[in-house]
Amino acid sequence: MASALVLGGAGFIGSNICRHLAARGFRVTVVDGLMPRTSGKAANLASAANIELIAQRIEDVNSFSGLLRGHDIVIDAMGWTSHRQAFDDPEYDLALNLSSHLVVTRAMRIARARRIVYLASAHQYGRVSNGPIAETQPLVPLDVQSIHKTAAEHHYRIAAERNGVSVVSLRFGNTFGPGQPLIGCDVGLIADMIRKSLAGETIEVFGEGRRRTVHYAPDLAKVIEALAHLEVFGFVPINVPGEHIAISELARQIAFCTGGSVTQKSLPVDIAAVDTGNAPLDCALFEKYFGPPQLTPLPEAVAMAVADAHHRLGIAEQRK
Ligand SMILES: NC(=O)c1ccc[n+]([C@@H]2O[C@H](COP(=O)([O-])OP(=O)(O)OC[C@H]3O[C@@H](n4cnc5c(N)ncnc54)[C@H](O)[C@@H]3O)[C@@H](O)[C@H]2O)c1
Repeated sequence: MASALVLGGAGFIGSNICRHLAARGFRVTVVDGLMPRTSGKAANLASAANIELIAQRIEDVNSFSGLLRGHDIVIDAMGWTSHRQAFDDPEYDLALNLSSHLVVTRAMRIARARRIVYLASAHQYGRVSNGPIAETQPLVPLDVQSIHKTAAEHHYRIAAERNGVSVVSLRFGNTFGPGQPLIGCDVGLIADMIRKSLAGETIEVFGEGRRRTVHYAPDLAKVIEALAHLEVFGFVPINVPGEHIAISELARQIAFCTGGSVTQKSLPVDIAAVDTGNAPLDCALFEKYFGPPQLTPLPEAVAMAVADAHHRLGIAEQRK
């Protein structure tokens, strides 16, 4: 039986990966500290068999290097995704988006994992005016989170080279899908639009002509499974294909599913300061390894995400 270790596996993307790998016959071990202000919850893994949850911070796991050994794939999905809150609490961001990952890079000296996949971010490129953005583009982060994620990725690059371990760093953008965080003040662009629209509010789209590459979490989970079977050596950053779409069009698709409405607003200064621009990702390297991307059609993915959010917000409402 194939085996996967998923760090941060009780979070939004991590749990999508765990459910997919478990359904595909992997034995999955999760380390997750169920950290405050993240969406890490044991309940995210409750519906799947073949998943063992070690509900501890990675820093507190006894002999982590022993745990790192013997898996077909190790996925590092730990993090904190609140871009705006990180400006007010950079130390917490430092702990979750950088320090946690050093436990892994340090253990790589002792235990040579077969393949480590780090969930990096397309935000690390910063603002790029002329695209498409290839992996060779300099990384010029615009916010606290991207600074720390870039630093963590560099640690992985060096640890991969020094220890002869294969590390793939996946760079991707706004992700949505089953289990995405919905409650709180900093849940991200897509969740915010879905939540507001389901509550009967008009979706506000800030700025004309802004585009984003968006990813459906179950599609990302399939990429991870494919990586478990691929031969890649050393440190390789790979852009992950998604749907490159105008934010206004995405809002319209969400409103179509909720029966809601959309309005256009001018771009506030604080959003403009961290706006990464409209350039798409160049995914030629991805295609070299995996062939043409096989994405869930966006209207279908949006409809499933809205239905999931509707269900979960309904349960949250009943519990009040
Ligand atoms: N959500 C997105 O749109 C997006 C886009 C690009 C990249 N990413 C990256 O993907 C990763 C996962 O994102 P997510 O949206 O699933 O976040 P999330 O908040 O849902 O999950 C992060 C998980 O990491 C766990 N964690 C954090 N620090 C830990 C530690 N020290 N020990 C053990 N567990 C720890 C948390 O408890 C949580 O379960 C992050 O690194 C994020 O930067 C996310």
